[in-house]
Amino acid sequence: MPGLVIVGAQWGDEGKGKITDLLADRADAVVRFQGGNNAGHTIVRNGKTWKLHLIPSGILHRGKLCVIGNGVVVDPRVLTDELDELRRRRVDTSALRISANAHLIMPYHLMLDHAGEAKLGKQQIGTTRRGIGPCYADKAARLGIRLQDLLDEKILKQKIIVALEPKRLSLRPYAKDPALDLQTMTEEYLTYGHRLEPYIADTTRIVHERLDAGHLVVFEGAQGALLDIDHGTYPFVTSSNPVAGAACVGAGVGPRDIDEIWGVTKAYGTRVGSGPFPTEVDGAFSDMLRERGGEYGTTTGRPRRVGWLALVALRYAARINSMTALAITKLDVLSGIDRLQVCTRYRGAEGAEFEYFPYHQTVLHHAGGEYLEMRGWSEDLSDCHTESDLPDAAREYLRFVAEFVGVPIALIGVGPGPDQVIWTNASQDTVIGRPAATASAGAPEPLAKP
Ligand code: IMP
Repeated sequence: MPGLVIVGAQWGDEGKGKITDLLADRADAVVRFQGGNNAGHTIVRNGKTWKLHLIPSGILHRGKLCVIGNGVVVDPRVLTDELDELRRRRVDTSALRISANAHLIMPYHLMLDHAGEAKLGKQQIGTTRRGIGPCYADKAARLGIRLQDLLDEKILKQKIIVALEPKRLSLRPYAKDPALDLQTMTEEYLTYGHRLEPYIADTTRIVHERLDAGHLVVFEGAQGALLDIDHGTYPFVTSSNPVAGAACVGAGVGPRDIDEIWGVTKAYGTRVGSGPFPTEVDGAFSDMLRERGGEYGTTTGRPRRVGWLALVALRYAARINSMTALAITKLDVLSGIDRLQVCTRYRGAEGAEFEYFPYHQTVLHHAGGEYLEMRGWSEDLSDCHTESDLPDAAREYLRFVAEFVGVPIALIGVGPGPDQVIWTNASQDTVIGRPAATASAGAPEPLAKP
């Protein structure tokens, strides 16, 4: 009963959507387990571009079971818009299931997210302002409203009243906003309930059934390890746990249901929002990397901060997720850069060196990277289909990453299209196995020997 978790190994936006889409092809079910519509995937399929925020990208594979697990926070307006858009484009959505226990993002969560950021001023987190943090806060405070509550008007109304009570003061600036009116809100959410009812289910049991029948279930993480509320760069993090362990909690499976954990990382680094990013670069070089990599947020359109690949952070992410394989995306973006830098250590303000990801916020805020310079390559990689198609320098770069992190590379992205991907020799040893058509004759020395 293989369970495979896909997680982001950086600060989100690693290209997990494309990797999930590839693996979903071979999976029986795709399950999201945390986050909400703060995430965003762009998937290019058959020349068409899809942008999804909540619904797992597996939905584009006809009839594939797609689950929004109990650990996800759901904005029903966004979800119903996404369903409408998929239907408009003739995508069958009947195989979507949403956990009855997933929590709902309410209009006041959006207001509180805005107000919270405004109050923090210069210290703001740079949230996506989608109400994610306030919704998880209500969940922890046991004031949350869940999908199942949409199906009972009396309960829904009561729960809204109770949830609003402690927020009166913070919501005062929005007191006249019609979206806050109890009756309006209840009616709006009941309407969502009617629309979503066919999809609401006991998803934990459904996932168990698939696993017990020996099917491959892919658990799709959102955001990335360094945005984890416990293990990331707190407080500049999201309000959930994007690490692999959360797949168990957020979908209702046990650790022994997970067989493999794939970490997705770009060949360089990016981050949106505030917070430490020790390998960040600026000036003309960052503009070039941002333009080439199309580094603008799928959800907010914000330009992403860009930088070199931080191997100390990647090794940390590998460890806290117990990664079994790496997927490296956007290697093609590095073509044409003469000398590449990889960060193998951090240096603190007082000169102390860190081989490990510093746990202390102050240290991390003032840390810079210590780099190893590697030769770059000028070749366009977009037509590379096997490891041996890659220039020597690119293979050297990847081999160094895999050895430093101690995790084999199974997949390499060399362009946005679904075919612009290299399944490495190491992918053969995973539960996915390498698609037969992509096996490379006489491949060179494997990229990764941890
Ligand atoms: P929130 O998740 O909207 O509360 O935002 C908290 C932090 O996580 C901010 O720095 C956001 O920019 C960041 N963040 C949230 N979701 C994503 C994502 O999908 N990709 C990248 N950053 C994200």
